[in-house]
Amino acid sequence: MAPNTKSEAAIPLTDLQRAHRECFAPWRARLPELVARSQWILGPEVSAFETEFAASMGAPFAVGTASGTDAITIALLLRGIDSPERSVMTSPLTAPFTAMAVLRAGARVRFCDIDAETLLLDPVRAAEVVTPDTAAFLPVHLYGQTCDLERWRNLAAATGAALIQDACQAHGARHEGKTLTAYSSCVAYSFYPTKNLGALGDGGALCLAAEEDLVRARELRDGGRRQGHVSHCEGLNSRLDEIQAAWLRIALTRLERWNATRRRLAAVYDEELAALPPELLRPVARSEGSGHVYHLYVARAARRDDLRERLATNGVSTGIHYPVPLHLQPAFASCGLRAGDLPVAEKAVAEIVSLPMGVHLSQEQARRVTRLIRAFYGC
Ligand SMILES: Cc1ncc(COP(=O)(O)O)c(C=O)c1O
Repeated sequence: MAPNTKSEAAIPLTDLQRAHRECFAPWRARLPELVARSQWILGPEVSAFETEFAASMGAPFAVGTASGTDAITIALLLRGIDSPERSVMTSPLTAPFTAMAVLRAGARVRFCDIDAETLLLDPVRAAEVVTPDTAAFLPVHLYGQTCDLERWRNLAAATGAALIQDACQAHGARHEGKTLTAYSSCVAYSFYPTKNLGALGDGGALCLAAEEDLVRARELRDGGRRQGHVSHCEGLNSRLDEIQAAWLRIALTRLERWNATRRRLAAVYDEELAALPPELLRPVARSEGSGHVYHLYVARAARRDDLRERLATNGVSTGIHYPVPLHLQPAFASCGLRAGDLPVAEKAVAEIVSLPMGVHLSQEQARRVTRLIRAFYGC
């Protein structure tokens, strides 16, 4: 049923128009210079963005790529993880691209179950199932919340495996007040349009702590070339466009403010939903020390599908991130897992619901969402 009064205007899960209105005029003003220069790939806008993005993330270096998936793949190739004899441990509750990046690098994916409260890849379980062929851990800062990086760093050091962070949903997040590259050299970001920092198409970046990684990552993203026409190694064709970089430079200056808006909205949700008994609905837990930039605000709900339907009837869009754990998706059948093998993730996907979140949302709209939820449960 369509909402019928102004006060009941539809509330989308996400809406890019507000952010785009802020960035469009300054970006358009840059276009004549870009057209005059006509250097569309790996030009001065990309270089400037890499410097500014690294500074903003608190990383020594950043390398622009064509996508977040490619940023992860390049991180794996940097560590020589490119054959099926080497496996990479990651979460079953993430975008498929996290695991696709592993397959594309040529390695094997191993899924490990997640923490029952935070839904983040669980380093304690990972330590129990690690094998000699585990070449890397690939924890995902899911929904914008940072993983327990101290533990992951220790586990990586103890096993000799690399630690590569999927921060594709966590632009600007810090952990225990520290930058993410303080814990490992490779941190991958996506600029898919709906992200906290989104481009006007695909884009990504790999933040790095070591200068030798920077030189090699630049080579890997550009067909193994070192600016000339000779390829020195097998590489990808994965470069960030000037036109996207020009946009991202403008959006980046707003990221901190946008993240603060997301945090305030999350606080409204937290406060208003606290009245509900946790067995009916509770936000996904936040662990101490974790940073959170609320790419998504996710709760666990009893009668989740009925709740979503009720909200939709009242003009409120919601999502499920993600409906099927990766180990049960056909693309990852080669991992050899079946239903029942990763019970925490399998239970979570039946309960999670993503509520509207983003700079398009007002606090009053967030309160309206929570009023509808409370009415649904009769609380
Ligand atoms: C957690 C996570 N990892 C990886 C990716 C892949 O990023 P991209 O779509 O830029 O390749 C995404 C984005 O969809 C993501 O959310």
